[in-house]
Amino acid sequence: MTTRATRTLVVLPDAPDPDAIDLAARTIRRGGLVAFATETVYGLGADATSAFAVAGIFAAKGRSSTNPLIVHVDSVDSARPLADDWPDVAEALAERFWPGPLTIVVPRGPAVPDVVTAGGPTVALRVPRPAVARDLIARAGRPIAAPSANRSLRLSPTTARHVAKDLDGRIDLILDSGPTLVGLESTVLDLATDPPAVLRPGPIAPEALADVLGFVPGVRGRGPVDGPSRSPGQSDVHYAPTTPTYLVELDDLADVPRPDRAGLLVLGVPAPPEAAAFARRIELLTPDFAGPSFYDALHRLDELSLDVLLIVPPPDAPAWAALRDRLARAARPRPL
Ligand code: TXA
Ligand code: MG
Repeated sequence: MTTRATRTLVVLPDAPDPDAIDLAARTIRRGGLVAFATETVYGLGADATSAFAVAGIFAAKGRSSTNPLIVHVDSVDSARPLADDWPDVAEALAERFWPGPLTIVVPRGPAVPDVVTAGGPTVALRVPRPAVARDLIARAGRPIAAPSANRSLRLSPTTARHVAKDLDGRIDLILDSGPTLVGLESTVLDLATDPPAVLRPGPIAPEALADVLGFVPGVRGRGPVDGPSRSPGQSDVHYAPTTPTYLVELDDLADVPRPDRAGLLVLGVPAPPEAAAFARRIELLTPDFAGPSFYDALHRLDELSLDVLLIVPPPDAPAWAALRDRLARAARPRPL
């Protein structure tokens, strides 16, 4: 892939400078790559109607072409024409949760190129909340395909600095509107199967979806974070720090060799006195606070070039479900 000079423009998230949006929109329209904030994580955007532009996303991220992208639109009116079938339940979900961190998967319409859906028969759609994202989509006049703006298998970005760490020199523009507010990727709900199922847990909990669906949808695809006998070969570790990262229990902390070479992230409970021996420790006590800070905490621990990062997972409670899902991808159970 060719190197590109990456420009960064600083904008206000809720009232972005129209000139900056205009430049970003022109970059999208000519097939370029623009990173922008949504409420969840920064996305790496390209014109979803251009196979050429979307191919640039896969090249910049080093992403497998078999992994489909979410298409971002500025309203439900722009979503409907991208679907081959727009069921009543999609309309009701959109009414209730858009703009917001819910992605819905529906049968794909002919306007969506193959490269976006990895050749599959469905398309994932969502309307992001921040003005910077919706103004960009509206000004570009195109739906924008956007995965998280990180190199493939790395941590998701919640700040423009995280984006630049991975993608500087590989993309055209970063719209820096500060840290994202929700901090965990959107809930992905598959409406193309009967019954609908959650493909990726996220900020909108299954219990909240039940208000519209009439039942609590199941979560398809992966096991619990620290459930029984996850063999290492099966464990689906990606979105991970580059430092080896393991899940531990509070009781294990006293036995860690060389805590002075280890970083510690404790979720949901205060760190015990043994934590003081670690090179760096970060505590995120409540789910509301941990969501927005989780990826930044991992980025910061990872940047210290320590030997190992240890994470104490939060309680197995519904409010922590999305974060526990991300933990299962960022870390392995500690080897004995
Ligand atoms: O919050 C988010 O969803 C962020 C922001 C930028 O919108 N985007 C994001 O994109 O997390 P990405 O590509 O990192 O993750 C998208 C997930 C992947 O697991 C992908 O496989 C799944 O959505 N996905 C996309 N299209 C799909 C489809 N048609 N059917 C099933 N899963 C799909
Ligand atoms: Mg991603």
